[in-house]
Amino acid sequence: MSEPVSRRNFIMGVTAVVGGLITTVIGVPAIAYLIDPALRESAKEEWIPIGKLEDMLVGKPTPFSFTRVQVNGWERTSTSHGGYVIRKSDNPNDLLILNSKCTHLSCTVNWSENDQVYLCPCHDAKFGKQGEVLDGPPPRPLDRFADFRVTEEGILEIFYKEA
Ligand code: FES
Repeated sequence: MSEPVSRRNFIMGVTAVVGGLITTVIGVPAIAYLIDPALRESAKEEWIPIGKLEDMLVGKPTPFSFTRVQVNGWERTSTSHGGYVIRKSDNPNDLLILNSKCTHLSCTVNWSENDQVYLCPCHDAKFGKQGEVLDGPPPRPLDRFADFRVTEEGILEIFYKEA
């Protein structure tokens, strides 16, 4: 025959069970949150949406930008990227997509509508509308995002691959 549980033992038992539940409910997500960054792998390459094609005028460089986040353990590093889309005609595949990173020392070039050139503020380089070097120290034309596609919703995407 079992002995009756005393009120004191009953309260201690209930306290232990409730405490255990609270520890589990709070502790498991907290530990998962702490170790998650160490387990997550950032994508090294992927399609990145850069805008609606219909919003990009034919013949006029349209700027775009995006940010990449690299995760290395608990360290997160954000990097900004960008460029210009030049629609050469109404054909959605007739595009030139330039990287706005100067090929000299990686400063960001800006399109000058007045001068019809891309200007690099660091060493006064000039690039033509197709990205060709017109003046200054850059050793080669602006780089291109050669792989692109237009989704069914009309969004232009470029394929980004980490260098
Ligand atoms: S970084 Fe552009 S000219 Fe030097």
